[in-house]
Amino acid sequence: MAGDERLMRFLAAQAGIDRLRFLTCGSVDDGKSTLIGRLLYDAGKILEDQLSAQVRKAGGAEDEIDYAMLLDGLADERAQGITIDVAYRFFATEQRRFMVADAPGHEQYTRNMATAAANADLAVLLVDARQGLLAQTRRHAAVAALMGIRHVVLAVNKMDLVDYDHPRFAQIEAGFSRLAAPLGFHSLQAIPLSALRGENVVARSPNMPWYQGPSLLQYLESVDTTGPSEDQPFRMPVQWIDRQEGIRRYAGTIASGQVRPGMTLTVARSGQTATVTGIHTMDGALEHAGAEDAIALELAEQRDIARGDVLTAGAPLAVSDRIEADLIWFAETPLIPGRAYVAKLGTSTVPATVTRIRHRLDIGSFEPVAGADQLSLNDIARVNLSFGTPIALSRYEESRDLGGFILIDRLTNATVAAGMVRAISETAGGAVWHTEQVDKAARAALKGQRPAVLWLTGLSGAGKSTIANRLERKLHALGHHTALLDGDNVRHGLTRDLGFSEADRVENIRRAAEAARLMVEAGLIVLVSFISPYRSDRDAARERFEAGEFLEIFVDTPVDECRRRDPKGLYRRADAGELRNFTGVDAPYEAPLAPELRLLTTEADVDTLADRIIQMLRIRGIIPAG
Ligand code: ADX
Repeated sequence: MAGDERLMRFLAAQAGIDRLRFLTCGSVDDGKSTLIGRLLYDAGKILEDQLSAQVRKAGGAEDEIDYAMLLDGLADERAQGITIDVAYRFFATEQRRFMVADAPGHEQYTRNMATAAANADLAVLLVDARQGLLAQTRRHAAVAALMGIRHVVLAVNKMDLVDYDHPRFAQIEAGFSRLAAPLGFHSLQAIPLSALRGENVVARSPNMPWYQGPSLLQYLESVDTTGPSEDQPFRMPVQWIDRQEGIRRYAGTIASGQVRPGMTLTVARSGQTATVTGIHTMDGALEHAGAEDAIALELAEQRDIARGDVLTAGAPLAVSDRIEADLIWFAETPLIPGRAYVAKLGTSTVPATVTRIRHRLDIGSFEPVAGADQLSLNDIARVNLSFGTPIALSRYEESRDLGGFILIDRLTNATVAAGMVRAISETAGGAVWHTEQVDKAARAALKGQRPAVLWLTGLSGAGKSTIANRLERKLHALGHHTALLDGDNVRHGLTRDLGFSEADRVENIRRAAEAARLMVEAGLIVLVSFISPYRSDRDAARERFEAGEFLEIFVDTPVDECRRRDPKGLYRRADAGELRNFTGVDAPYEAPLAPELRLLTTEADVDTLADRIIQMLRIRGIIPAG
């Protein structure tokens, strides 16, 4: 959820007036800003001054709880690097209060639109009467439907430029009904208008007597977008825990349902229960709170509750680490199955991996197309996804708050996708990693060492294998128990099916890391020698191990030197165009930013370099000091 949105919710909850949140989307020149300008100007009651006054009030309030909550939300999103390219505008008439989210229509539009749509009740899709329905109109409609928007206005703009031609309007309207049929909107209203001339925007236009329906504003004022949300079960994702004078208060925004003192709540993940003894807000204690209220709960019993937990009542909330979801991919870099991203769902932040792309949505036909192995900018797809740990969640159609999520790139911190949970699977194999009787520490102790992974990364020909072999000989001579995983060798067996595309390398590194992990469990010192060119994959590998167990060693040899050595003649072949995707030639190598050790192979011989690693192992207590 965007910070601005949280702010809006907060203010709207304060105001308690009937309100409609809608978004506008259209292509570049179809007059979106003119339309919004018209609405704001003609409605004549822009609340922006009022809004900033209220924010100031919230900031200066005596009780800091809500304010802090607000800041926490905002700061959080800043830290996540979620850039919101969406302008929110507020206005009101006597009937209603409105929030318009305006998503700019350039190439990043799905991201902006997804942000804008996340909490909107209705979408105004703009089309230019001269151009009619475009591919982008289809995509906008699809994104709106996927994101749970059930009400759509098709604003057919620039009617003045087609001489207020009724048949033209009727044709566009019919075309849209056909197109939208599979998307399952609950209401669909087409309105012919001219934003520039202010016709059918606020007042009805005498130039289109054939149109009997409401003006855009009349429609927005009267449309009923309330769903069957009244008796939803209570859900509150815990955002933070306030500890004052030994009293804990669990703060968050109620996603659905009602809460009263005396009610028994269940912590979704642990199943523990506790009784509500108090509901606190900025304005003091409450006897009752409901959806969208920002509150802090006091409980009778001390329970183990952390951010990411969800307090619930009524039907139990699902807890799982495997889901089926729709993704809207809005990064320039493609989604690669197997790569680790970060998911934010509710107040949980967990590692997430797409394990399979089930199908992609063809925007032309709205038909699923199987067989995609990547997703690119603006693609929409159904995927299988697994989280690093089980979290409390819901299907999107049951709760946008607990069924909607975003994916974040681990390195750039950019938001790369919006996701909607469609199905929830049982947690993998009961989820718990077996804790064997004889554990890693016991095995390692017998061997007189601490288990570790020495992850050697570097270009082909950098000297990784040579150093790894020499090192293993030395460790062996010192009486240590080792194993060696070498990219070239492993590719003959465990990873025989993989090539050198980015996706295949992601999977290659994942398998190497998993194999290394099993060997670490066996108490071994594992030498891994893989090019492993992508930083995010090495980082994901690192996260499979305990702190201090994974040691990244950058075998740093300039590409020109590798090319000169060219032990396998591969650079020659790559330069001649016979080998594709060759690291350092036509595929990237992302050097480690903070390796545990960096070895400059042009400055020392193999023996010296291997000794440096041994020295590091002694300093770190992996092997006893010599
Ligand atoms: S990685 O990039 O996925 O980590 P890995 O270490 O398993 O690569 O394998 C690299 C080895 O495969 C190289 O040392 C080289 O012998 C061979 N190889 C064949 N084709 C390529 C290529 N296109 N890019 C890099 N290495 C290649």
